[in-house]
Amino acid sequence: MPTEEQLEKFHNDIKAQSHVDEDVKKILDGFPKSAHPMGVLSSLTSALVAFNPSSVNVDSEEDMYKAIVKILAKFPVLTAWTYRKRLGLPLDYGDDSLRYVDNFVKMMFKKPSGEYTSKPTVVDALNKLLILHADHEQNCSTSTVRIVGSSHAGLFVSISAGIAALWGPLHGGANQAVIEMLEAIKEDGGDTKKFMAKAKDKDDPFRLMGFGHRVYKNFDPRAKIIKKAADDVLEDLGIEDPVLDIAKALEKEALEDPYFVERKLYPNVDFYSGIIYRALGIPVEMFTPMFALGRLPGWIAQWREMRLQKEPIGRPRQIYVGANLRSFVPIEKR
Ligand code: CMC
Repeated sequence: MPTEEQLEKFHNDIKAQSHVDEDVKKILDGFPKSAHPMGVLSSLTSALVAFNPSSVNVDSEEDMYKAIVKILAKFPVLTAWTYRKRLGLPLDYGDDSLRYVDNFVKMMFKKPSGEYTSKPTVVDALNKLLILHADHEQNCSTSTVRIVGSSHAGLFVSISAGIAALWGPLHGGANQAVIEMLEAIKEDGGDTKKFMAKAKDKDDPFRLMGFGHRVYKNFDPRAKIIKKAADDVLEDLGIEDPVLDIAKALEKEALEDPYFVERKLYPNVDFYSGIIYRALGIPVEMFTPMFALGRLPGWIAQWREMRLQKEPIGRPRQIYVGANLRSFVPIEKR
């Protein structure tokens, strides 16, 4: 654990790098407003290499440290910019005198006219979400970051690849998919039993998004904390939302249903995080970028560990199980 001095230096080093080259705005401008923020963020993160050439040097610990503080400082700015661009708001640089999450919510939500005062419940919930999402072993995006980095590619492109992997609906994209599913159930008349039956029907590709986990077969411990944070946020902000009633009904039915119980399918972290983001007024396409912001320090720590341990290049092997001998059939005879 860092000493007070080391921690303060780390904070200050991050703050000192919170500017993003103005030319990055031109790249952002090139994207249509309708572009998915995860694609935009993956591209912008990779584009940052061009503005920070030394960030690709993975043989110098000093350059690695500089790359780490740069991406930690600039990624929240890029995330907030991506959000503001969708809403047609001017791009904001935040305020370095604020703490990380306070600064981030200000960059996201401050309107061009007037002051922005953050609500403690919102900051507290976001802090919890970011911390709980920070690292989680060899999930799809983290192993992607490691494998890209194992070729000695620099930090920014390794993170860019991690963002792409996180985007998928079976991984980080599940938080967006959960809310879209709940909204679809509402539009369809709110019959949760019908969708439970669809999820159990082997001839139907529908899955209950936000349920199940490759590793957690008892309960996702993060989900317990996030469920409480979601309850606190909803109560504090006085939010009543029919979509949340559907979420509660689905959760209750799934926890009592033999199909889900036998397969050990419990609500995962993505089931509740989307509910909090929705309550905070964050648009659904920004849910997975919020996950990326939380996972960023974990990706970095994994990448750094790999580099410092001088791990060899990642090279998964595969076992060929196809035919041993096939005769060639000319194309006109196929
Ligand atoms: N709804 C309905 N059935 C399910 C679900 C679900 N959400 N998840 C798994 N099953 C069934 C699956 O059909 C299979 O049934 P059977 O044994 O009869 O063939 C059984 O449960 C095991 O499923 P699996 O696909 O082999 O399990 P897995 O460990 O490979 O997959 C998972 C894990 C998270 C990809 C999967 O549960 C899923 O697709 N969940 C929905 C998407 C989701 O919420 N993802 C977020 C994961 S947590 C955070 C993160 O990584 O970002």
